[in-house]
Amino acid sequence: MLLSKLILDKFRNYQETCLDFGEGLNFLVGNNAQGKTNLLEAIFYLCHLSSPRTNEDSELILFGQEEAYVRGIVQRQIGDFELGVRIPIKGRKKVEIDGLPQAKLADFLGTLNCVYFSPDDLKLVKGGPAERRRFMDLEISQVNPYYRHALSRYNKVLQQRNNLLKEGKPDSKLLAVFSEQLIESGSVVMERRLTMLSRLNLLAKLLQRKLTELKENLSLEYSPSFAITQDLKADFIKALESSSVEEKQRGYTLVGPHRDDFSMIIDGRDVRIFGSQGQQRTVVLALKLAELEFLRGEAGEYPVLLLDDVFSEIDDVRRKKLFEIISQNKVQTFISTANPRDLENIIGEQRKVFEICSGRVVVKKDVTPR
Ligand SMILES: Nc1ncnc2c1ncn2[C@@H]1O[C@H](COP(=O)(O)OP(=O)(O)O)[C@@H](O)[C@H]1O
Ligand SMILES: [Mg+2]
Repeated sequence: MLLSKLILDKFRNYQETCLDFGEGLNFLVGNNAQGKTNLLEAIFYLCHLSSPRTNEDSELILFGQEEAYVRGIVQRQIGDFELGVRIPIKGRKKVEIDGLPQAKLADFLGTLNCVYFSPDDLKLVKGGPAERRRFMDLEISQVNPYYRHALSRYNKVLQQRNNLLKEGKPDSKLLAVFSEQLIESGSVVMERRLTMLSRLNLLAKLLQRKLTELKENLSLEYSPSFAITQDLKADFIKALESSSVEEKQRGYTLVGPHRDDFSMIIDGRDVRIFGSQGQQRTVVLALKLAELEFLRGEAGEYPVLLLDDVFSEIDDVRRKKLFEIISQNKVQTFISTANPRDLENIIGEQRKVFEICSGRVVVKKDVTPR
């Protein structure tokens, strides 16, 4: 798929900007704090209706203004879509497709898919389980509305159930109702994560081998809060039962997908604990590229790739491999960097360069073939 146009109105430090992107590589060049990440954030927002770096939508509105408006034209195999999101300082965001307001955010989500990669993503390997759950959620949600629905139901009932457990002597009938709903939605979430990870495992394994000249064998292993056999639902019921005394003592739910994790293993060792810095970085890259392939498998076409300032993270060999993969597959890619020299060694037939300075964009060297 292709994001051919992006129109920003009072988004972050962009007053009013309209950009036409190329099919291949789009470079966003500029010094620090000029608006490169803001621009990628806007693209991410059109995809997820959330920001990769804040939970406060109001931060996205240009200082002193009442509303931000982000629009983009997405070209997919099935046709073109004009996406629009209004983010008001108060109240709910409003989404539209082809100028028509959509009552449900769910009808909007999934139209644009993206993979976002920033230096922060090292957290995926080094950080706690919440980072990896977020990774799984963002990925599956993009292509699976059923998952999105189950996840939001799960989070809601988990909250209710925890509130009840906190009360000390919870009403057992109400607790049973919540438990049933928890198991219902939680099993869907876990099943999808399991399926996704088994696919991602194969893809990441391949990519890690590519990135390390066949030297390293990576595998991803799902680690849920209870052992899974043939019947996940039955396992969940059992696990909940066996934790029933302890959860009342502690006042919160002890098992379920909110306690999920996955591990990354190279040659029998957990990369998180034993991996070198370089190894951990390569694994993040392999995971991101695997995500690209996973989303293509699910959506039928490649998502757009957003690389935010990751050049400093990647050495020359891996960088070369990365561009091989991108250009072979004709993935529309957005690359931000503060160092224009990064561009020199990149071969790519189709490239467009955007120079960014204080929220203003100048198309510097448009070499996209016409
Ligand atoms: N809501 C906002 N309104 C106006 N400016 C903002 C807003 N949020 C962030 N900024 C400005 O955006 C700049 C940071 O942009 P960013 O895209 O992160 O920079 P970089 O080019 O380094 O990636 C800072 O100068 C910051 O003050
Ligand atoms: Mg930045």
